[in-house]
Amino acid sequence: MREISVDELTLGMCLSKDIYNDLGNIILSQGTEISNKHLAYFQKHGIISIYIDERDNSVPAESHKAVKIYKFKDLNNAYAEVLGQFKEVYFNVQNKQHDFDVEILRPALEGLIEIVISDNDVLGSMRIIALNEAYHFTHAVNVSMLSAMICKWTGLENDMIYLAALSGLLHDIGKTKVPQELLYKQGEINEQEYELLKMHAKLGYESLKNNSSLPREVLASMLFHHERSDGTGYPSGLKEEQTPYLARVVAVADVFDAITSDKIYRSRVSSFKAFSIIKDESFRGLDPKISEIFLSNIAAFFINNRVKLSDGRVGEVVYINKYALNRPLIKVSNDFIDLSTDYSIEIDEVIS
Ligand SMILES: [Fe+2]
Repeated sequence: MREISVDELTLGMCLSKDIYNDLGNIILSQGTEISNKHLAYFQKHGIISIYIDERDNSVPAESHKAVKIYKFKDLNNAYAEVLGQFKEVYFNVQNKQHDFDVEILRPALEGLIEIVISDNDVLGSMRIIALNEAYHFTHAVNVSMLSAMICKWTGLENDMIYLAALSGLLHDIGKTKVPQELLYKQGEINEQEYELLKMHAKLGYESLKNNSSLPREVLASMLFHHERSDGTGYPSGLKEEQTPYLARVVAVADVFDAITSDKIYRSRVSSFKAFSIIKDESFRGLDPKISEIFLSNIAAFFINNRVKLSDGRVGEVVYINKYALNRPLIKVSNDFIDLSTDYSIEIDEVIS
């Protein structure tokens, strides 16, 4: 069996296994003969590789056995597994069981990282996952994936990528120690409630600092992911050079996911608006180098994406200028709108 690109598929090959969509429903059955319409479908849905049985090379095309790897289904399963294990840890910590062995998370988390960094499309992947779960659970897994990607883009080794993923997954575990109704509260929170929420960084660290299975980088990320380079962060008001590196990575991932997710008390903003916010925040407190690496890599994933503009029109992103990541060139019908020069129009939404 060998992996081939869908570009190498020829008409008449037959699927030897069912193909599923990301919800687990069969969309093409075993035995289906590949036609032009199927090739177009694969292209449209980002299916890039197929496994075929090499034994079939000597037999007529119609009996080729093609097995598709449906990346989204793999990703959904891996995401759900990590999410389930994270929830277990979350409820354990909430019930004061602080001595869990963090290594129980490793197999599932490594599986998720492998898929995410090989796919190289973390945002596209995250957008297709729609789980009916509370924000603070999906946020943990999203920040884990984004932190791993940032470390991969930075060129760090696998052990650091894993530590980043674990740091992202557990960064907000201290939220188990604040009044839970605050996590689900609708509408704005007042100053007193905000001060209570801010306690999560210190409470997470304090609760788990004696758990010897937790790497110190992960504990440091729990404690310091809200520090900012200008000293305005919490709990310690550290300056950039004093804040551990992985805590700064998690901070960028945390801000991006928070502002692009549907939260209870604030509707999400488009990823392009989020680029502007991250850029602005990098002048105020997020690590500028990490922000730059994050933005320049992640923006490229939006080429060819359809977007809804503030004037109601729908277009396609055709070019992203690295100096104006949040204001790309958009093709609408036969016209081009350069948002880097036309400030009367905004991107309201990226259409999945
Ligand atoms: Fe936090």
